Amino acid sequence: MSRRWGIMGTGGIAAALTEAITAEGGTVVAVSSASADRAEAFAAEHGIARHYGRHHELTADADVEVVYVATTNERHHLDVRACIEAGLPVLAEKPFALDLPRTRELLELAREHGVFVMEAMWMKLQPGFLDLQRRIAAGEIGPPRLVQADFGIVATAETDRRWFSRELGGGALLDVGIYPLTFAIAILGAPTKIVAVGELAATGVDAQVAVAMQHDGGLSSWSCSFVADTGIEATVAGPAGSLRVRSELHHSPGISRRLRSDTLEHGEAVGHDLGYRWEVREVDRCLDEGLVESRIIPHAATIEVMEALDEIRRQVGVTYP
Ligand SMILES: NC(=O)c1ccc[n+]([C@@H]2O[C@H](COP(=O)([O-])OP(=O)(O)OC[C@H]3O[C@@H](n4cnc5c(N)ncnc54)[C@H](OP(=O)(O)O)[C@@H]3O)[C@@H](O)[C@H]2O)c1
Repeated sequence: MSRRWGIMGTGGIAAALTEAITAEGGTVVAVSSASADRAEAFAAEHGIARHYGRHHELTADADVEVVYVATTNERHHLDVRACIEAGLPVLAEKPFALDLPRTRELLELAREHGVFVMEAMWMKLQPGFLDLQRRIAAGEIGPPRLVQADFGIVATAETDRRWFSRELGGGALLDVGIYPLTFAIAILGAPTKIVAVGELAATGVDAQVAVAMQHDGGLSSWSCSFVADTGIEATVAGPAGSLRVRSELHHSPGISRRLRSDTLEHGEAVGHDLGYRWEVREVDRCLDEGLVESRIIPHAATIEVMEALDEIRRQVGVTYP
């Protein structure tokens, strides 16, 4: 069923989801911003009927059926909370909140109110990622024992005001590191031990982080960076070979398999070009079924990732105001 969406936020990803929602047959009926001018400009550019100069005014719009929260990291918990309290289902950008206590609090509140909430971890809905999971389950490489992944981009304070900002919950870990971390946990389970090293930027947020994790099923090593441009790939290896998630790992065009015999096969992930539309479909499907959480991105997974993020930030020495 196509729905009427409200969007909190006027940045790059708010624009991308507006496109995805429209392509899926939904309508963005309202947008909110902390600035009346930004809200008005975004509404005009995207043909959105109503705009609000304060985020939480959007929750009183009786026409809005579901909200996409795309504000900066430090205010996700405020915005998600406002939606839940208004009884509105929410798709909330990653990181779901700044830390584990706030994540738990919000997910408990959602349960109490019986409101659907999903972290916008779109990687898990991509055809390439689903294909990887199917191949692992089919035993193509034997039990997965080792995961390696990286996500590094070169970010400059000039090109993005939020990446290096402590006040806005910046840092490579919450912005891009969350993908290889979520990936490793999805394949090997929650970590039982984490060892992290990091380099901090002058503003106090992490510029890059390298992490080694122990899981019941094996080991993972991954890294994220705002100062090094990496391949943005992941490899899952088992005794019979490895599966490589080709770049970019969070919306991979396909999986390549290398068997012990050295044969190499390249698979294509059909539908990977639909990108963010998969998460719009998942929200629609869950709401059609009357669910309060997605089976593919369940609350427990959001909590596992948040728990690890808190521990990594503790080890590398990043705190938020
Ligand atoms: N899933 C993904 O692939 C993906 C990709 C990128 C980002 N994200 C997540 O989405 C969230 C938003 O990211 P984004 O890339 O959209 O960030 P962005 O472009 O920097 O926009 C974020 C917010 O910055 C504010 N803003 C924009 N221009 C401004 C200006 N000139 N002065 C003051 N404020 C300004 C807007 O606030 P108002 O709302 O007040 O107008 C906007 O909502 C983050 O949590 C990020 O982690 C996810």
